[in-house]
Amino acid sequence: MDPILLGKGLTDDVAVTLLPRFGNRHGLVAGATGTGKTVTLMTLAEGFSRMGVPVFMADVKGDVSGLAVPGDGSEKILQRARQIGVADYAAGASPVIFWDIYGAKGHPVRTTVSEMGSILLARILELNDTQSGVLDIVFKLADDRGLLLLDLDDLRALLALVANERKDIATEYGLVSTASVGAIQRALLRLAQNGGEGFFGEPALELADLMRTGTDGRGVIGILAADQLILNPRLYSSFLLWLLSELFEQLPEVGDLDKPKLVFVFDEAHLLFDDSPPALVQRVEQVVRLIRSKGVGVYFCSQFPDDVPDNILGQLGNRVQHALRAFTPRDQKAVRVAAETFVPNPKLDVAEAISRLGTGEALVSTLQDKGVPMPVQQTLIAPPRCRMGSISEAERSQVRAGSPVGMKYDKPIDRESAAEMLAGRAEAAAKAADAPPAKDDAEAGGFGQSIKDAVFGTKRRQGMVETMAKQTARTVGNQVGRQILRGLLGGIFGGKR
Ligand SMILES: Nc1ncnc2c1ncn2[C@@H]1O[C@H](COP(=O)(O)OP(=O)(O)OP(=O)(O)O)[C@@H](O)[C@H]1O
Ligand SMILES: [Mg+2]
Repeated sequence: MDPILLGKGLTDDVAVTLLPRFGNRHGLVAGATGTGKTVTLMTLAEGFSRMGVPVFMADVKGDVSGLAVPGDGSEKILQRARQIGVADYAAGASPVIFWDIYGAKGHPVRTTVSEMGSILLARILELNDTQSGVLDIVFKLADDRGLLLLDLDDLRALLALVANERKDIATEYGLVSTASVGAIQRALLRLAQNGGEGFFGEPALELADLMRTGTDGRGVIGILAADQLILNPRLYSSFLLWLLSELFEQLPEVGDLDKPKLVFVFDEAHLLFDDSPPALVQRVEQVVRLIRSKGVGVYFCSQFPDDVPDNILGQLGNRVQHALRAFTPRDQKAVRVAAETFVPNPKLDVAEAISRLGTGEALVSTLQDKGVPMPVQQTLIAPPRCRMGSISEAERSQVRAGSPVGMKYDKPIDRESAAEMLAGRAEAAAKAADAPPAKDDAEAGGFGQSIKDAVFGTKRRQGMVETMAKQTARTVGNQVGRQILRGLLGGIFGGKR
């Protein structure tokens, strides 16, 4: 399999490549703003896509979307491609699917509350240990009573139930204070106000849709609009962590393949680690190490190499360091870290070279035979075939219109779950007491519901049974420690599961 041509090594006049079989050995793209990081990621993504490897990347500034349309093929770019020795260079687009948690710039990405799990949810909601404990109780109670936790309404309904029955459930599940419930409710309100409402629900994202190849055999590049998402760093980092954990749980162990099964690009990687408790960082480190054997390569992108903690940095086999300006002590420290982590090349003074690299130039070291990193090369990075910059609304709409997954995700579905069932029960109880039902209850689970049941009965119930089985398997899996990542993440929040 042909390697990805990253660029031309100026230090030793060699081609600088990334070998497909070491694509799962992770990587780092770092550098000051405007030095060429995004363009490097595009060249990398196009390379993987061409060899049939799907890629998933976040688009923080909107410019990654350029991958979906051909570049301008200007003489300047052609000249650069020739200089670098890119064989068969021609402007061209990659197969792209746009995703967006808010559903505006791409297909909505959703997950259910139960699939997110109580640990990551507690992190998104910024709950303390006591509040997280209450959230755990909510999840267990939902399982025990056969109530589906799909969207935030379900979670609200269950919280209300837990608050109402807190005296009765105390012996079996533990104490629940109304203060904790109130705090969680307020956190949910904040999440909803930040646009989190639509993220929880169905149809939930299937990982297979992030791992598609097109009819021409190229890997599809999934691009997540992150310009809004990044304003809510907890949601952004938790979402990407959740994706990693899902991949980790669902993908089989594959050992070393001739190319990765998926490449995952984590832009603004510092957000994953900024004010994260040390134990969480340690867990992320473990996951990054373990996911390699599932054939997933993770590429971090950030301004400073030391935005990524040492133990993770040590696992990133493929390095691209763009220019850093050594102005402040903070910059100088980053330059030192960058210099220390490369295998030295006698012809190159790394610390000195870093500050005078031009745009689109970088110090590069990738893994070579037997997984040994090559000595660092000052490299002229190959231009991507796509547009280096954002796309228009019309261009985006056109890509979306041709998407293979639009039918599946664009329309939300609201299946009968905890909120509807609890509302239905409340109504039944009210009827039994011969009191007129509250209006809301009647709408959610009243007469209309029984007609719907008559029409959709079996199918809805079937779906319910399946999801319930999945939900319970998760909780049970957590309890017996089979779900390693959630177990790992769980341990740090007081070992509830
Ligand atoms: N390999 C390259 N070939 C040709 N031009 C390049 C290359 N790399 C960068 N450039 C030029 O430099 C510009 C800035 O690069 P880029 O957007 O990748 O920087 P960045 O490091 O991602 O910046 P930021 O931190 O602001 O996101 C590009 O729009 C492009 O014009
Ligand atoms: Mg950029």
